[in-house]
Amino acid sequence: MSDFIYPIFLVDGAGKKIEINSMPGIYRLSIELVFKEIEDCRRLGIESFVIFPAIEESLKDPLGKYSYSDKNFYLRAIREIKSRFPDICIVTDVALDPYSSDGHDGIVKNGKVLNDETLDVLAKMSLAQAEAGADILGPSDMMDGRVGYIRRELDAKGFTSVSIMSYSAKYASSFYGPFRDALDSAPKSGDKKSYQMDPANSREALLEAELDVLEGADFLMVKPALAYLDIIYRLKEKFQIPIVCYNVSGEYSMIKAASKLGFLDEKAIMKETLLSMKRAGSDIIITYFAKSFGEIMKNEFPS
Ligand code: PBG
Repeated sequence: MSDFIYPIFLVDGAGKKIEINSMPGIYRLSIELVFKEIEDCRRLGIESFVIFPAIEESLKDPLGKYSYSDKNFYLRAIREIKSRFPDICIVTDVALDPYSSDGHDGIVKNGKVLNDETLDVLAKMSLAQAEAGADILGPSDMMDGRVGYIRRELDAKGFTSVSIMSYSAKYASSFYGPFRDALDSAPKSGDKKSYQMDPANSREALLEAELDVLEGADFLMVKPALAYLDIIYRLKEKFQIPIVCYNVSGEYSMIKAASKLGFLDEKAIMKETLLSMKRAGSDIIITYFAKSFGEIMKNEFPS
């Protein structure tokens, strides 16, 4: 189970457990329920978590300033989780979209996403997350040059052992729909095609990955996973650092919905798809199925 990372959606407040409509079995949780979730996961052998914040609309602005504010509940939660569970691995999300009133991963001006201006905010956010205790930062924004920029800032401030898991080959995919529901983070206008990759390109993924490696990435990610197994394979062949795939929200919802209708056998399909990601070359899989898979493993191989 150590090859899995389980995503958690964090919401501010207390006693909140709100199911995400398009993702049955996945919830937005407030902090004390996140503690419980982590305890449940650890019993199944899951030790790594990627945490995403759902931010209230009133805290969003065009520059995403709340992302590194002292008052940020996401940063506070990371601190609390780390002090309670010092041994687990926490991956954070570095991108503007949860904090941006425009719903984009970068700063928008006159309808355009500004790459270089965004880097500075990403670096501030990264430092704040490192200070809060994140083990691995996950820049999911796809701005050019951000891995190097963030690495330099981290090293300069003494965070040399905080790693970077770069969303290197992140495609402009329709499979992210349910995730954007989960966070209310859909773009208010336009789409993400100017910074996320064209699904028709494969060689661009190699180039993006190579730049990330040169800039100091510790892990390379392919996202989504299922429709991009060829990209996982290619990256695994070419690069020596661990390859991560993100089995995204739409891939989860698809299986859940078809199983609910009785069209597919959920367990069997889940196992087969996770296996395909491994076979393609993923060292690590980020998946909403991690817990269900852990339960199956526990039943099949009780220790
Ligand atoms: C955005 C981000 C997205 C996901 C993770 N980080 C969505 C997007 O690019 O709009 C998607 C994950 C999923 O669909 O499960 N920073």
